[in-house]
Amino acid sequence: MHTLNITPGGVSYPVFIGQQLLGNPELLAPFIRGHQVAVVSSKKAASLYLETLRKALGHFQVTEITLEDGEPTKSLAMLEHVVDCLLRDKHERSTTLIALGGGVTGDLCGFSASCYMRGVSFIQIPTTLLAQVDSSVGGKTGINHKRGKNMIGAFYQPACVLADVDVLATLPDRELSAGLAEVIKYGLIADPLFFAWLESHMDALVAKDSEALMQAVLSSCKNKALVVAEDEKEQGRRAILNFGHTFGHALETWAGYGNWLHGEAVAVGMVMATELSVRLGWVEEPLAERVRAVVQRANLPVSPPDDMKPEDFLDLMRVDKKTVGGQLRLVLLKALGEAVVTSTVPSGLLREQLAASCQET
Ligand code: NAD
Ligand code: GLY
Repeated sequence: MHTLNITPGGVSYPVFIGQQLLGNPELLAPFIRGHQVAVVSSKKAASLYLETLRKALGHFQVTEITLEDGEPTKSLAMLEHVVDCLLRDKHERSTTLIALGGGVTGDLCGFSASCYMRGVSFIQIPTTLLAQVDSSVGGKTGINHKRGKNMIGAFYQPACVLADVDVLATLPDRELSAGLAEVIKYGLIADPLFFAWLESHMDALVAKDSEALMQAVLSSCKNKALVVAEDEKEQGRRAILNFGHTFGHALETWAGYGNWLHGEAVAVGMVMATELSVRLGWVEEPLAERVRAVVQRANLPVSPPDDMKPEDFLDLMRVDKKTVGGQLRLVLLKALGEAVVTSTVPSGLLREQLAASCQET
């Protein structure tokens, strides 16, 4: 087992990465302060892993809150439901919430923990690759509003994260690939050696080799930890974690949430952002070729859908959360492993890139 310490805003918490962690009561116990625990899970994750976790929580008073799978669960209605279950079972301020599931579960559970009785402890047990390498680490929690995704939320750090790669064995291949997009992102924005490692281990990752997955989760979390330690609340550098996301969010919204997985859209967005960096003369074309190749080997798409047009991107990119004073900000590459946030891309070049990306399909 690997232990990584995350240190945002002066606090510190461990991320445990390994195998056979889920059923280990000794790992969890030190992070549960009182006698009460509430496990928030999704139907799928609960059907696969709740029993194992239940055994590890033997002597606590446990409330099980199992929710529908899917993005609509990140809602005010489900927040209210979680709070209702906690109040019904008389959970006190010393209670601990445990998120068992993917990013949807982790985001909702974390946000519930941030506001129940003005804040109670919570633990992340991420069961998708995306959640293990991204959403469970760094303290972003939240739910959706009908006018926008993740529009209600809080920065709220967990007491610990338990990333057991064994649970990825049951993850559908498409969800695994979506998580690999975020893994590739870390190599591109911050870690050239890790990117090269991914190029030589992508087949093992796609085949769900446990050692390779552990290494990928560890390197991803290490890279995320460095960024989050420097800028917990995204006042600056943390925005580089959104590499590929401005184009990706536009695509995701255009396609209708759920039709393209977030990671699939981010994969296309990373290809587009790298190609735009080439257009700006910041990186060379061979890097764009390497990005396209590794993305394809992760079984991810490299271009937008046939019928998506440059204007669709432009319209939807205007509502990106990184936009400041109406000025679009993009995360681009100055080199492999060096991302920058910029608002100085000439609009002509951006249009050229969008036209090229939309023609490729
Ligand atoms: P998800 O939570 O919807 O999980 C994907 C699917 O996999 C679900 O159907 C789930 O039930 C199923 N599943 C989960 N674990 C499984 C397992 N081990 N075996 C089989 N099936 C399993 O999706 P996700 O990709 O994990 O997370 C996406 C969410 O994360 C989005 O809401 C996004 O906004 C959020 N997110 C948050 C952050 C953050 O920093 N907080 C970062 C990235 C994404
Ligand atoms: N997923 C981007 C971030 O955590 O900032």
